Amino acid sequence: MSKINETRRITVPNLRARKGGEPIVSLTAYTAPVARILDGYCDFLLVGDSLGMVVYGLPDTLGVSLDMMIAHGAAVVRSTQRACVVVDLPFGTYEANREEAFRNAARVLRETGCAAVKLEGGLELADTIRFLVERGIPVMGHIGLRPQQVQSMGGFRVQGRDAATAERLKDDAFAVADAGAFAVVIEGTVEPLAREVTGLLPIPTIGIGASSACDGQILVTDDLLGLFAGFTPKFVKRYAELADEIGRAAQAYAADVKARRFPGPEHTYGASKG
Ligand code: KIV
Repeated sequence: MSKINETRRITVPNLRARKGGEPIVSLTAYTAPVARILDGYCDFLLVGDSLGMVVYGLPDTLGVSLDMMIAHGAAVVRSTQRACVVVDLPFGTYEANREEAFRNAARVLRETGCAAVKLEGGLELADTIRFLVERGIPVMGHIGLRPQQVQSMGGFRVQGRDAATAERLKDDAFAVADAGAFAVVIEGTVEPLAREVTGLLPIPTIGIGASSACDGQILVTDDLLGLFAGFTPKFVKRYAELADEIGRAAQAYAADVKARRFPGPEHTYGASKG
């Protein structure tokens, strides 16, 4: 894939207009250096609350705070020029009532400079999504497997294999779209259902473990880079093995230090290049 050269930032309406068109490319980003590299290749970068597991070593996303999301969101916005940046609202910051959701979402937009927030939920959050959208906060939905509901779902389970969860996923998709979300992440579902929902929904669907039948795809960057030593979901294709590469570099460095080969004279401060 060639690097995109334009520097104008992709907007929420640009993404919304991609429904049924060229597939939307998206990855997670949590830090400035990685965001800077991904910027030219992605339509949007998600500062996902997966950072709790990937960056902070937490067992799930439930311990992620709004301040963590804001710090990482601001770093990603600062270091990118082109990709639309979307920041996750973490668990406990938007579910209680729509006013609190607005206050927290507004803080995220104001303090990070991102374009939109993402929140997990369907029917039960439609009212909140509408409230935010009507007050100028673009919202991306997230339905299907919802990592913030890992406790009540009894683990990370594929949704839509049975009639009850398939109906629920469809109801959620329409509720989120009707409420004004500009796109929706569909996580962990079967291809026929993803295809059906994508065909019927007026907004782009962004799949993760939901087949290629969606309008776009997102992955956790550390998974596709082979950097996250924890669990890698089955649907992830690894495009690099950076954990191995980092291990090799650290091993080579350790060997140099032990052999007193480092720093060499060419690396000493003040050495002339002569
Ligand atoms: O937090 C996250 O990284 C996400 C993606 C997996 C969609 O929500």
